[in-house]
Amino acid sequence: QDFAIGIDIGGTNTVFGIVDHRGDISYRGAISTRKHDNPNDFIEELYHALQPAIDQVGGMDSIRGIGVGAPNGNYYNGTIEYAPNLPWRGVVPLRDLMTARFQSPCSLTNDANAAAVGEMMYGVARGMKDFIMITLGTGVGSGIVANGQLIYGHDGFAGELGHVTIIPDGRLHKGTGLHGSLEAYASATGVALTANEFLERDPAVPSLLRNFAKEAIDSKVVYDCAMQGDKLAGEVYAFTGKVLGLALANFVMFSSPEAIILFGGMTKAGDLILDPTREHMEKNLLPIFRDKVKLLFSELKEADAAILGASALVWEMKL
Ligand code: BGC
Ligand code: NA
Repeated sequence: QDFAIGIDIGGTNTVFGIVDHRGDISYRGAISTRKHDNPNDFIEELYHALQPAIDQVGGMDSIRGIGVGAPNGNYYNGTIEYAPNLPWRGVVPLRDLMTARFQSPCSLTNDANAAAVGEMMYGVARGMKDFIMITLGTGVGSGIVANGQLIYGHDGFAGELGHVTIIPDGRLHKGTGLHGSLEAYASATGVALTANEFLERDPAVPSLLRNFAKEAIDSKVVYDCAMQGDKLAGEVYAFTGKVLGLALANFVMFSSPEAIILFGGMTKAGDLILDPTREHMEKNLLPIFRDKVKLLFSELKEADAAILGASALVWEMKL
């Protein structure tokens, strides 16, 4: 059994790969996460989507197990609990449902924790003992590594840094009911909301974004407009970086990491997000921390850190 299946469940898409011991991904695929509001239907679709990949490596006999990274995933319980960005309500015993359907051992953890492990084993965090992985996608998540180990906490939910309040009485996050959380601003959804807010706030200010319908404005559109020199679109990223930088400063003072690693769709904005984030992180740090923490992007392409981290759960599984 030389292969593991690594699965990263995202708020929008679920990606998977077949991974060997060296961390080589031999097959990648994706399905939409949002199509099914019943986790069993989702698993069924995933099962069928994975068949060609499994056949290619010689069938289930060659697969040692399945590792899953999921929003609000709990490693201790193998559950996904009250995930604000998934269509499934309440507590979903996903690990056990997967084990039953695939007839294969399965292990589940938080998606950002999985990404942190992937980065530690195969990416920019190799050799680092203290770092924080921040995932910027449909949601905002984190994996906190301290003294070479992920922090799980008493209940296994440690590191839900996307939900810390960054602006008192700030924007409502519909999925959580919390106001002013980092996720309400620094997620892809948050960027789109900021863009629409800025457009409404200054109706006289010209912007390429006005050529788009409200619902069509997403973080990618804002990025494209900013790159074409659109001032308002640029300000959206400057503001997002300001909020994110402030949050990162707080996280740095909490665990004194060597690096913060940014991962996920939003990092496609490159320096547009990195520069204001770095500026505001430094500005909000106590001098003893200043100019010391590396702010890096994941080196692994696309969702590979998450797939690899999820697959790594399989090798450590006691079978
Ligand atoms: C969830 C986290 C997750 C993050 C990224 C957040 O909404 O609460 O558990 O890591 O989204 O998917
Ligand atoms: Na986490």
